[in-house]
Amino acid sequence: MRAGFDGVQVHAANGYLIDEFLRDGTNFRDDAYGGSIENRVRLLKEITQAVIEIAGAGRTGVRLTPNGTDQGVRYSDPGPVFVAVARTLSALGVAHLELREPPMNGTFGASDRPPFAPAIRKAFVGVTILNSDYGPDRAAAAISRDEADAIAFGRPFIANPDLPQRFSAGAPLAADKGVLWFTQGPEGYLDYPALA
Ligand SMILES: Cc1cc2nc3c(=O)[nH]c(=O)nc-3n(C[C@H](O)[C@H](O)[C@H](O)COP(=O)(O)O)c2cc1C
Repeated sequence: MRAGFDGVQVHAANGYLIDEFLRDGTNFRDDAYGGSIENRVRLLKEITQAVIEIAGAGRTGVRLTPNGTDQGVRYSDPGPVFVAVARTLSALGVAHLELREPPMNGTFGASDRPPFAPAIRKAFVGVTILNSDYGPDRAAAAISRDEADAIAFGRPFIANPDLPQRFSAGAPLAADKGVLWFTQGPEGYLDYPALA
């Protein structure tokens, strides 16, 4: 916050540590952090509380991947635990939840389960942001159906530094170069031109 950022997003997604604690397919602990749903949510709750103490609840968000299967979290039963997460984070006053849920025909991760976002949105009072495989039309449809308050874009932003302007103008989108993902240096990240 001293560096001037507007807020902090706790990364509880993609099969990383916090996600591993949430899932019954990866969390085999028999202490206060394993077993029941309440126990599996405890680490995320405590981390989020610690961030809130510094950033404030209104500037704290959490990223989740409920229907994700990344890094071996595929065997869990995500529905009940992620609804519990939403209720817990609601009670803490967290500003936003970002749900990265690839569709079943997703182009960057595909899930064998439909998104859990509808149930999670009902259990969360803050802003719900959806992500994965959205373009302008699908995003507008999701907002108009009240499936989300906002949509987050990943790959389209890599290749289109002026993405909001292109959406507004109905301009064509440049394609990003996947071979340059996760490479070092500016190529493939900072060398996509904006529209003239
Ligand atoms: C090059 C690249 C790097 C990414 N790095 C991260 C990351 O560090 N953490 C993360 O949560 N997601 C990461 N993602 C995933 C994106 O945040 C996003 O969830 C994903 O691209 C799906 O959204 P999209 O369909 O709008 O691209 C990365 C994606 C790409 C293409």
